[in-house]
Amino acid sequence: MSTDRKPAPPPRRLTDESPRVTVFHSDRAAARALARRIADAVAATPSLVLGLPTGRTPLALYNELASLAARGAADFSQVTTFNLDEFVGIPAEHPGSYRTFMEQHFFSLLHLAPERIHFLNGAAPDPAAECERYEQEIARAGGIDLQILGIGTNGHIGFNEPGPELDARTHRVTLRPETRRSNAALFGGDESGVPAEALSMGMGTILRARAIVLLATGASKASCVERVIHGRVTTAVPASFLQLHADVDVMVDEAAAAKLAR
Ligand code: F6R
Repeated sequence: MSTDRKPAPPPRRLTDESPRVTVFHSDRAAARALARRIADAVAATPSLVLGLPTGRTPLALYNELASLAARGAADFSQVTTFNLDEFVGIPAEHPGSYRTFMEQHFFSLLHLAPERIHFLNGAAPDPAAECERYEQEIARAGGIDLQILGIGTNGHIGFNEPGPELDARTHRVTLRPETRRSNAALFGGDESGVPAEALSMGMGTILRARAIVLLATGASKASCVERVIHGRVTTAVPASFLQLHADVDVMVDEAAAAKLAR
């Protein structure tokens, strides 16, 4: 049996000031480090308020957190969660909803208290009132302690899509074609089946979180990560607004870091 397997290279810190960029040798290593950070934060503050994304990127993170919980290495029973976004016009139990995604990949595995799980209702008869309700729920919970984000290839966070302006508060948004395309898998691979609109936390809602971690993995994220870190703050790259927050970590694998200055 071969014994010469090299140890995994350690993470590299590229910047020490927010946004602090750390490069991991693999997406798995980044997910594991973020899971450890979340578990440590929950150990320090059992009633932590977490903001959460859906998407392909956090799947490895949610797996890691689920296995920590299964081993008894982390207890999420007191944690409160707020998800970033939900599609408009479909009920929570629709197979393509973000709520269903989270039930499958996170909520059912971590034994969260159902009353501490918060989600936008995409089927609400009055979407504006629903957005306002969400802002008030976040405020009532004392604000978000740790907001986890993914990033779209177009630079969106939550569903704050690039455009001439951004909404500060939770709002209704028209999804860009590339965003509908990247969510087609949730709707049987049919892009036209992806709802055209969503409800999303606003940029101000996200930036009010006490700490933020952006997780980005894979070569398709290299260009937007480069613009977020080295570019100007612009509504054309919504995630660039993270430069304005004092406590942001950007955790990337080598592929997503490929265009960053070393
Ligand atoms: C979804 C969300 C989005 C995703 C982004 C990346 O709740 O917040 O901003 O994080 O679209 O999606 P993936 O991870 O599938 O590339």
